[in-house]
Amino acid sequence: MKDDILENYRKAGQTSAGIRKEILETVKPGMKILDLAEKIEKMTTERGCGIAFPVNIGINEITAHYTPTYNDETVIKKGDLVKIDQGLHVDGYVADMAYTFCTENHEYIKTAEEAVKAAIDMIKPGIQISEISKAIYEYVKSKDLGVITNLTGHGLEQYVIHGPPNIPNKLSESSLKLEEGQTIAIEPFVTDSDSTVKESQPVEIYSFLQPRPVRMQEAREILMVSANEFKGLPFAKRWFSSVFPPVKTAMALKQLEQANAIHPYPVLKEVRNKPVAQAEHTIIVLEEPVVTTL
Ligand code: CO
Repeated sequence: MKDDILENYRKAGQTSAGIRKEILETVKPGMKILDLAEKIEKMTTERGCGIAFPVNIGINEITAHYTPTYNDETVIKKGDLVKIDQGLHVDGYVADMAYTFCTENHEYIKTAEEAVKAAIDMIKPGIQISEISKAIYEYVKSKDLGVITNLTGHGLEQYVIHGPPNIPNKLSESSLKLEEGQTIAIEPFVTDSDSTVKESQPVEIYSFLQPRPVRMQEAREILMVSANEFKGLPFAKRWFSSVFPPVKTAMALKQLEQANAIHPYPVLKEVRNKPVAQAEHTIIVLEEPVVTTL
């Protein structure tokens, strides 16, 4: 990997780690998740990084792909498992990191974090991905807990937040190997037993797919911004609330979705509505692996 690319990955990761530290020192019950998301996004840009995707905040069974609406009144309550998944980038080189906050000392959180560590300890060029999956899965099982089997870790590339390879959190048969210079995110989701997530309402996050003719002026503008400014990275409906009346934004996004111009990310919920914890770090695969987000 070229030095300047490594430097970009490091800067994104270190900035993300700094934000995580400050957030964990200040987050508490009574806070609105809207304020939390906006604070993290503001810290990201103020510290010279780009936002790789809207801050995802998932409480309890809400596992992934939820970002607050522009008028979100949701407040963190005592005992909630609050998953914060934040993506920062420098010139498109992404630090993808997640952590879970809870007022209680929750075993799911510690288990998810330790499972990531168990995976990190195995990372080196040439290792089979199934070995990493096994380390994650067996650690979680040793605590008598389970993983979300249809969510995986993944590769990262410039301006690509979910690239190959897939890194399952359950046992897998794959003979794929990690390659030197790859950047990957390891992200187990822990719950009481092996389970899955399903797509639910609402949709608050989208990304650019392809240019398509659409009727609404607002839709054309959103499409242009999503391609040129966000460079294909996911964006939040909320980000347009100060640009267009929210009702227009919603209509424009519907139109773009129907035209197959943008990709929707529906909220993912644990199928039994059970609480879930998540931990995630970004790692560059080298003989001495670099965990950029530590
Ligand atoms: Co990720």
